[in-house]
Amino acid sequence: MTIGEWQASNADLPRIERELLLTDVLSVTKAYLLTHPDHEVNDSHVEKLNRVAHQLREGQPWAYLAGNQEFRGIDLKVTPDVLIPRPETELLVELAIEYAPTSARVLELGTGSGAIAIALSSERPDLVITATDISPAALEIARENTRVHGLDIEYIESDWLTSIPTPTDGWDVIISNPPYVAEGDSHLAALQFEPQHALVSGPAGLSDLQAIVTEAVCHLRACGRLFLEHGWDQAGSVQAMMKQNGMTEIKTHQDLAGLDRVTSGAAQRVTE
Ligand SMILES: C[S@@+](CC[C@H](N)C(=O)[O-])C[C@H]1O[C@@H](n2cnc3c(N)ncnc32)[C@H](O)[C@@H]1O
Repeated sequence: MTIGEWQASNADLPRIERELLLTDVLSVTKAYLLTHPDHEVNDSHVEKLNRVAHQLREGQPWAYLAGNQEFRGIDLKVTPDVLIPRPETELLVELAIEYAPTSARVLELGTGSGAIAIALSSERPDLVITATDISPAALEIARENTRVHGLDIEYIESDWLTSIPTPTDGWDVIISNPPYVAEGDSHLAALQFEPQHALVSGPAGLSDLQAIVTEAVCHLRACGRLFLEHGWDQAGSVQAMMKQNGMTEIKTHQDLAGLDRVTSGAAQRVTE
């Protein structure tokens, strides 16, 4: 079978996926694919191409099949143990980079592949970063990604803040992209190959956001900031949680699509 014949018999797949698959399996460039449609593909390669094409048709994300995903220009290993980092999470990173004072102590909760902590560490080497997850398998991936990129991040297994030693004066910044999808949400069908504990958070999708706000205020330094990613329709709820916990300077930030995506707040100033 030739490259052209394989493409024709898999024309139901998006062209970009066919080309990624062919360049990956045959170790050729995209230009080669376009200029050599008559290249004969050997049987073992045809078998591999067909197997992965079948997995893509089942809805398995390309990132898991390829084993990697780029986030802010950084190549990260991903497996089904971790959420595939999303471009919309870049807003959270940008806000923390903009706010964090020099040499700030930053705590990331629910790090998954390590995407947020690794992007922060590579773009702001002055920051002292600790990142956590409840999943030991995710922490293993995050540690590997950190090692590959030659960065220095401390990782701790913890259920939100329960096992995290807090610096004497508290954290300067706490940042998180926690699970925030409601149980039974219709979008979950399209996310079935990603870890459900990384996505789903109680009947309204707010349980983990609530737990983090309540715990984080006790661990931030006076005026330290909490940055939380959330669903486009959850800003009002997150703002209310922050208010109830005495936070000030509460603000919601929009992503490039104009959707409410991140809410931040400051821990109360300690009065004499
Ligand atoms: C939405 S994913 C975010 C992953 C990564 N930070 C990113 O933005 O791509 C949420 C992460 O929170 C972790 N998580 C869920 N419940 C947790 C808990 N109770 N304590 C700590 N981490 C938790 C999940 O394992 C998952 O890695």
